[in-house]
Amino acid sequence: MTLRIGPYTLASNVLLAPMAGVTDRPFRMLCRRFGAGLAASEMLTADTRLWGSAKSRRRMDHSGEPSPRVVQIAGYDPQMMAEAARLNVDAGAEIIDINMGCPAKKVCNRLAGSALLQDEPLVARILAAVTAAVPVPVTLKMRTGWDPQHRNGPRVAHIAEDCGIQALAVHGRTRSDGYRGRAEHDTVAAIKARLKIPVFANGDIDDGPAARAVLAATGCDGVMLGRAAQGRPWIFDEVNFFLAAGRASAALAPEKVRDIMRAHLEDLYGFYGDATGVRVARKHLSWYLQRHPGNEALRSRLVAIETPQEQLSTLLEHFDPVARCVPLARVVA
Ligand SMILES: Cc1cc2nc3c(=O)[nH]c(=O)nc-3n(C[C@H](O)[C@H](O)[C@H](O)COP(=O)(O)O)c2cc1C
Repeated sequence: MTLRIGPYTLASNVLLAPMAGVTDRPFRMLCRRFGAGLAASEMLTADTRLWGSAKSRRRMDHSGEPSPRVVQIAGYDPQMMAEAARLNVDAGAEIIDINMGCPAKKVCNRLAGSALLQDEPLVARILAAVTAAVPVPVTLKMRTGWDPQHRNGPRVAHIAEDCGIQALAVHGRTRSDGYRGRAEHDTVAAIKARLKIPVFANGDIDDGPAARAVLAATGCDGVMLGRAAQGRPWIFDEVNFFLAAGRASAALAPEKVRDIMRAHLEDLYGFYGDATGVRVARKHLSWYLQRHPGNEALRSRLVAIETPQEQLSTLLEHFDPVARCVPLARVVA
């Protein structure tokens, strides 16, 4: 199926969900290499006064990323959101995604993220301001509503389409659900049925069969995967294969997993620098290893290590105990 968002034809309808603290540039590029159709940045505050921080600067760094580059912005003020979108487009963003899906306190205290779903007129003002401000496609990520008694997702989706939003991703939970229970995709199906723009279903989709079932149940144009990609960036390849072939692909060989982990760690050290890179790498290592029971001791060792060289050589020794001498050209350079 050919799927377009504005001028962009997506190579796959399986997308990586934006996750603050996870979908940094190294992880986005890894998931794109494994076939994610799009990979939005971690959310960036629309408050430009905060853009001087190292965190915001890194979140705005898209060098080397394949097109189309998607930047997600979060905020509550239409003019600030419009200005943030404009500045990001000037800096190379090719699609602007608006966050109305995140339940995090820090965002919601300012009535941003999914808390905005409570105020439909404000939603309309934000979406209209942002779509008018930039010449690139604007997309929206939202939840099904404010709480189970107020599933206003279908109304908000209509507002979005009327305001010129060009694609929508819907997480099948309400804001008050947090991450509890299972995502329900009935509301997502109701939203899809009313819209002309592409709709992506999101929430608890963790393999090819789940993706196929949600696509069939909702009629959505694609799916968006978040937590299932943690420690398993190759899931996009697996799901793409399953959707095309109707059967599972062969499991990855341990050497392939080792090479993926190694390249990922080296990218993290390069992107964040050694000290922060090692810290960020710890959580990815935990995710990779927790998928393989029996690695608890290795996990505990790895998360206590302070240098890239030791972190990488400890990991590689696990895969190949004989190879003690690890060439660390990119790390040391
Ligand atoms: C650690 C973490 C960070 C997240 N950060 C964002 C974010 O920055 N923007 C956003 O729209 N959603 C964010 N989300 C929500 C995800 O994009 C996604 O909607 C949610 O995890 C459900 O999908 P999943 O079941 O495939 O993980 C985050 C989720 C997690 C677990």
